[in-house]
Amino acid sequence: MNPKQLAAHAAVALIENGMKVGLGTGSTAYFAIQKIGQRVKEEGLQVTCIATSIQSEELAKSLNIPMAGFDTLKRLDITIDGADEADHQLQLIKGGGGALLREKIIAYMTDHYVIIADQSKYVETLGKFHLPVEVIPFGWQRTFDHLEALGAKPHLRQRDTAIYITDNGNYILDCDFGAIFEPRDLQTKIDLIPGVVECGLFVDRTGTLIIGNNDGSVVTHNRK
Ligand code: 5RP
Repeated sequence: MNPKQLAAHAAVALIENGMKVGLGTGSTAYFAIQKIGQRVKEEGLQVTCIATSIQSEELAKSLNIPMAGFDTLKRLDITIDGADEADHQLQLIKGGGGALLREKIIAYMTDHYVIIADQSKYVETLGKFHLPVEVIPFGWQRTFDHLEALGAKPHLRQRDTAIYITDNGNYILDCDFGAIFEPRDLQTKIDLIPGVVECGLFVDRTGTLIIGNNDGSVVTHNRK
């Protein structure tokens, strides 16, 4: 098993019958959704899920995982999602896959937020991975200027030759802030910029970080 799969399987073992579950996005969350589908099929595991992206929703439906919407789901027992970076305080950078807004909405309705990653994502200090910031298309150039004034080198995300569009119809500015020593403070400043919908800093949300290592071991870090 590869390290992402190891972390994903350890996280899915935390799911119990009857739980309401948030499904993450990305190549690590993919393994978690596959494993949930397997447990639904083979064990008759009863869960109700909501996904953080169209891509993950389609995958879950293809595996016959029961899905529901926000009308019926007010809180989630657990969400299992990936991250682009996680530091030793369990603060995160997310959004490499472009799903940060839906991921954050779901993170904030979750009792036990579980992050899964391979060892390359576990870092001393956030910021090597450029921080994704979702912005509305209207006047995005001025939002870019405000981010630059905060100290970032922003870059408009492209897919092939076109501008990358999120599931919510927005753009993403990937921002090089250098090392991020105060993620809480930076998040507050970014959120105040007009045109910013959400930034990829996930501060004080993670209850458990599960890291899969190249040597086949799995290490679990719980919030203190
Ligand atoms: C998507 C995300 C992903 O969780 C993050 O990009 C990690 O992806 P992967 O597991 O493919 O490395 O935040 O918006």
